[in-house]
Amino acid sequence: MKASDTTSIQHSARQVAIEIIANILLQQGSLSTQLARHQTSVASEHIPLLKELCFGVCRQYPKLNSIALSLLSHPFEEKDTDLYATLLLSLYQLSYMNTPDHAAVNESVEACRILKKDWATKLMNAVLRRYQREGDEITANLESMPSVEYNHPKWLVKRFNKHWPDYLEQIIEASNTHPPMCIRVNENSVSRETYQAQLLDLGIKSDTGLFSPSALYLRKAVKVTELPNFEEGFSSVQDEAAQLSAHILSPTSGEKVLDACAAPGGKTGHLLEKATDIELTAVELEPWRMEKIESNLERLGYSAHLICADAGDLDAWWGGEQFDKILLDVPCSATGVIRRNPDIKINRKPADITELVEIQKEIVSQVWKTLKPNGFMLYATCSLMPEENEQQVHQFLEEHHDAKEVSLNTLNQGFELEWGIPVSHGRQLFPSLEGHDGFYYCLLQKIDK
Ligand SMILES: C[S@@+](CC[C@H](N)C(=O)[O-])C[C@H]1O[C@@H](n2cnc3c(N)ncnc32)[C@H](O)[C@@H]1O
Repeated sequence: MKASDTTSIQHSARQVAIEIIANILLQQGSLSTQLARHQTSVASEHIPLLKELCFGVCRQYPKLNSIALSLLSHPFEEKDTDLYATLLLSLYQLSYMNTPDHAAVNESVEACRILKKDWATKLMNAVLRRYQREGDEITANLESMPSVEYNHPKWLVKRFNKHWPDYLEQIIEASNTHPPMCIRVNENSVSRETYQAQLLDLGIKSDTGLFSPSALYLRKAVKVTELPNFEEGFSSVQDEAAQLSAHILSPTSGEKVLDACAAPGGKTGHLLEKATDIELTAVELEPWRMEKIESNLERLGYSAHLICADAGDLDAWWGGEQFDKILLDVPCSATGVIRRNPDIKINRKPADITELVEIQKEIVSQVWKTLKPNGFMLYATCSLMPEENEQQVHQFLEEHHDAKEVSLNTLNQGFELEWGIPVSHGRQLFPSLEGHDGFYYCLLQKIDK
């Protein structure tokens, strides 16, 4: 390939990044949906660059946004959000990437032309040149703003500080960093020790997870195709905290199990690895996400009864036969996994939490009806907000006198309970730098009256 070809493809990665960031700023979908939709328009070898640009801008957004606003005398109008995305990308390249300064500036000026907004070329050039000259001073003047100091939206910093003052620094530091690559070994196919040795034979060093008996942390991320027998389902990429679900619920042979909010099916597959002959039903609302469950299960070589429906609308999917065990991994604010979904820093609003609490409340109270007397329901979120976690469970217990909280150790006696901290109901895990994501678990049992 000629050098000029490479340049044009890199430009196209940048153009696509502008479109994705602009769409996120306009609240038109999450980073993961935008990437899935648009990355096909970039040559495959440039997808890493596209991801670096998009993840990078989202991860650094609170800082970059403050810098950009202080450089502009008037914010861009909504119809020029693509120009604002261009500016954010350039600031990201100038501050965090090895792109030569002149290239970053020239590419942005060129981007204005490609966007057919030639009128903005002078402005873009002037603003970026000023940042080159005065960047350190501008950044230093903004450092005292909480959104810049913590690189998170101010409202989120306030909430973390209110709920978890002792963990604020840990939460912020972990949420601002790339997560480690953690895999789940399919203990049904191979032991963790054997798989770790197989990885080492390939030069891939790993460390065992402290809490999940199936977890291995890779010291350096690799492509999944480099993992031994990945296509045969010997391992899956899954965070260690997420792996705890199936260990806590420990399904056993012949049980009727429900995975109520299932996509992309990480935990669905794990439940089947724990006991391949359970009768598993997986319910998911979004049709496009159902395919992910299917492909995950196909690779692992397992099957489940897959239903696309609102789990809270029992008439739409439930035949009336109750389940022995239920995993309820409800939709949530995902504030424990900001490092994996950094667009949360742009899109998440305080009102979302209130709305999510209502949605969760409806799902949990409906799905509860599908649980057998004496059966178990594991309520899970990847949120750090007590409203979605312990307070949600508290309210549920107040309103459901046939429910009681039981220890997370109940179904898996040998399972160590040193992860996270105990809260008024269940346990809260915080994201940790070299370790697991933020998560919440509470195990409930239906009283047989
Ligand atoms: C936290 S994710 C689940 C992750 C999944 N358990 C895993 O481990 O791969 C929540 C999922 O619930 C789905 N969802 C949201 N509302 C739902 C509803 N009312 N009924 C069923 N699924 C729902 C979302 O589309 C999303 O896929």
